[in-house]
Amino acid sequence: MFQMTSSSDYIIEVRIDVLKTLKIAGITAGVLTAIGLGAYYIHQHTQRTKRVILRDEVKNILEPFQLSEDQLRRVMANLNTEMTNGLKSNDHTDKNDLAMFPTYVHYGPNGQETGEYLVVDLGGSNFRVSHVIIEGRNRLRLNNKIFLIPHSLLLGEGEKLFDYIAECLQRFIDDNKLALSKSSDYKFDLAFTFSFPCNQTSLRQATLVSWTKGFSCTGVVGNDVVLLLQQAIDRRKGLKVQVVALVNDTVGTLMACNSIYRDCKAGVILGTGINACYFENLDNVLKWKDEQNQTAKQVVINTEWGALGKNGCLDFIRTTIDRELDSSSSTPQQQIFEKMISALYLGEIVRLIIIELVQRSILWPGRMHKTPSLRSDYNIFLILRGSFYAKHVADIECDTTEDLSVTSSILTSIGIHNPTYDDCYIIREVCKTVSLRAAKLTAAAIAVLINRLNQPSVTVGIDGTLFRHHEKFKKNLTRTLNRLVPRTHRLVLSEDGSSKGSALVAAVDRRTKETTASS
Ligand code: BGC
Repeated sequence: MFQMTSSSDYIIEVRIDVLKTLKIAGITAGVLTAIGLGAYYIHQHTQRTKRVILRDEVKNILEPFQLSEDQLRRVMANLNTEMTNGLKSNDHTDKNDLAMFPTYVHYGPNGQETGEYLVVDLGGSNFRVSHVIIEGRNRLRLNNKIFLIPHSLLLGEGEKLFDYIAECLQRFIDDNKLALSKSSDYKFDLAFTFSFPCNQTSLRQATLVSWTKGFSCTGVVGNDVVLLLQQAIDRRKGLKVQVVALVNDTVGTLMACNSIYRDCKAGVILGTGINACYFENLDNVLKWKDEQNQTAKQVVINTEWGALGKNGCLDFIRTTIDRELDSSSSTPQQQIFEKMISALYLGEIVRLIIIELVQRSILWPGRMHKTPSLRSDYNIFLILRGSFYAKHVADIECDTTEDLSVTSSILTSIGIHNPTYDDCYIIREVCKTVSLRAAKLTAAAIAVLINRLNQPSVTVGIDGTLFRHHEKFKKNLTRTLNRLVPRTHRLVLSEDGSSKGSALVAAVDRRTKETTASS
């Protein structure tokens, strides 16, 4: 039976029905969307990365590379202790892991710096000459050129390397007609970005303690590198340049970033090598002996933290592969931390794990014997140190193609033809694991820096290929760091630190001297 309703009642009833319908439709849509998304993810997961059940042997090899939070906190504690010890005495040659070199840089730029500078940057995969004009209020103009260094020069006589640097400098000045408008007695001020462990006794005096990153020229270790460069410059008649500052790349990075972010008090390099510097209170630098500067309260410390582990404090996480890599390197027992993280070594760690997996017949089982024509290619990869690059690790790690075709073509490009899906899957797991460990260790180290700086907020300036180009590494680093330090912090990519930042070091020095002279 129909019940009589007034028209207003009817309207209310209709409204309620509409609402109900919408609600049901909404729930249905929600459920359908959820089912759809679920199906999509299951499809993605099964299709994209058809899971390969890793054999226990693979798991056992990778397990020591997987670091727990407790282990990371132990790394943090050890690094912190080594930093404190390094600030007490100059015993870095034997007792202390970390050199903690005072850099004689006391202040960041305040925006009043001006002038024209040349910068020579030696230390990574490239050698660069720059012309920097600082126009005040941190406005900078920069022009630079990358020069290739013949490999033989990196391993030959130091004097030849410095002569080559001076020659490139001359070419750069001539090509850009920089000397044209200058008076005959004008000398360019040059900042020398030299990214190796140097014991500084002033801004322009620095003894090389040891080479790193595969450099090994003779006649440089134990000598003042500023003097070596100045002598090479002076040997070229007509080259009017004076070296006014020696700058580590971390310090350049810090200065470039500090000119933009006032709370930037640390500079980190994550590239061919790894290292960090930060502003430390002079009261904490017990070994500080500079009578000249009575007013400064802080100094930038070049930690040289790539050397951590020299005396065994990282032994609890070092794997047999790490030890193998170290003992077959040209610098055994040195740069232990660097060898676990930097772009120069990441690929090599992966290659050594791959060799282990091949030897246990887990990767491309039997194929080396069945296909004699492939054997030599495989062997080149297996024998040749350094034939697998950090870039390969980064690209393989990010391979989300259905058939792992990126991984497959990288492997083919280095001589491993027609790898199977399982080969590619396992190698991608290896790359992920090695890269994650490096990111976590870096996070632990940066966490120590942030804690030591003890500011309400800290910006850390970072440069280097791992941070600039290796997306996954950067993500893992940021995620782990957020877990390790609740304190407010941000990581900022520093642009052209090794050139701009070094010019700023020279400019700050010039400004502070002018201020002192006029007061
Ligand atoms: C060097 C450091 C440098 C770092 C990054 C390390 O091998 O010892 O001085 O800052 O590489 O280039």
